[in-house]
Amino acid sequence: MEKKNLDWSNLGFSYVKTDKRFVANYKNGAWDKGALIDDDMIVMSEDAGVLQYAQTVFEGLKAYTTKDGKIVTFRPDLNADRLIDSAKRLEIPPISKEMFIESIRQVVSGNAAWVPPYGSGASLYLRPYIFGISPVIGVKPADDYQYRVFATPVGPYFKGGAKPIVVKISDFDRAAPHGTGHIKAGLNYAMSLHAIVTAHEEGFSENIYLDPQTRTKIEETGGANILFVDFDGNLVVPKSNSILPSITRRSLVYVAEHYCGMKVIEREVELKEVMNGDFKECGLCGTAAVISPIGKINDHGKEFEFSNGMTEMGPAMTKLRNTLTGIQMGEIEAPEGWIMEIDC
Ligand code: PLP
Ligand code: COI
Repeated sequence: MEKKNLDWSNLGFSYVKTDKRFVANYKNGAWDKGALIDDDMIVMSEDAGVLQYAQTVFEGLKAYTTKDGKIVTFRPDLNADRLIDSAKRLEIPPISKEMFIESIRQVVSGNAAWVPPYGSGASLYLRPYIFGISPVIGVKPADDYQYRVFATPVGPYFKGGAKPIVVKISDFDRAAPHGTGHIKAGLNYAMSLHAIVTAHEEGFSENIYLDPQTRTKIEETGGANILFVDFDGNLVVPKSNSILPSITRRSLVYVAEHYCGMKVIEREVELKEVMNGDFKECGLCGTAAVISPIGKINDHGKEFEFSNGMTEMGPAMTKLRNTLTGIQMGEIEAPEGWIMEIDC
């Protein structure tokens, strides 16, 4: 199979239309089997549930070319579980785990020519999503739904790849206690758009959201969880019920303990201790972001710079990142069940 003629090493994180996408429909109370199609356009009612009341949930995962030329995805079973949890919270009939895995296999294999080559630093980003497609006018769930998965080749989420970024403490809240912060719903991202545009206008790469109840504890950013390394070399991860249970973070917790000899502490992290300099390193983690180091945090004009500053990633984050990407690229042996090979 001949690869597409793209400048793989210089891709950004943006949408490129690829050849095939998976579509399944929920009608009369049941999901059909679904199939790959060519058409990237969707025709729906002007009153579709997704358009009126934002009834949509999604996932994000990647396909990679490994060192020995295989095409693989990373822990898709966890994306399936999370999509099912997200769907239930928005009264969307969940698809089965089997359909999720099958759709990923079909989309990757149907777009094999778009999977970036090993060593390019790029990957094929997969976007599964389910949305209410039938009309609703009173506030209630739609009757019919569509599940889709498309693929797009991507490079780093932040310009400059693994270069440290500057983030600000947001005045906006992302998620309420007992709200929807722990699921991957489009509505959580819609409400973050004004905050991210404002942050970008002010020269920051991202927002750090605080817990909305007390505004004293670190939650996460608009599209990634946050990690800290303390001066004893421990990985510290914020504990909260309103952040997304990141698959990257869960994997890094395992990698830290089993591959890097680090102790992991999950606890509430106060903004005060961060700004006091109690942590040596800080970074964002997620499928799109992988690990992006945070160089500086700006809290309403008061700035704290981590010890590695703005030029490079700190040693602990570098080790975690290299180990995780090494596992994903087939350079380091993966824990059982983490890598799903796709026949193309
Ligand atoms: N937090 C938010 C708000 C996200 O959008 C994402 C991205 O998926 C993450 C965390 C990281 O999750 P994962 O590592 O599963 O991609
Ligand atoms: C991901 O990392 O997959 C995300 O969904 C983050 C962002 C692009 C929304």
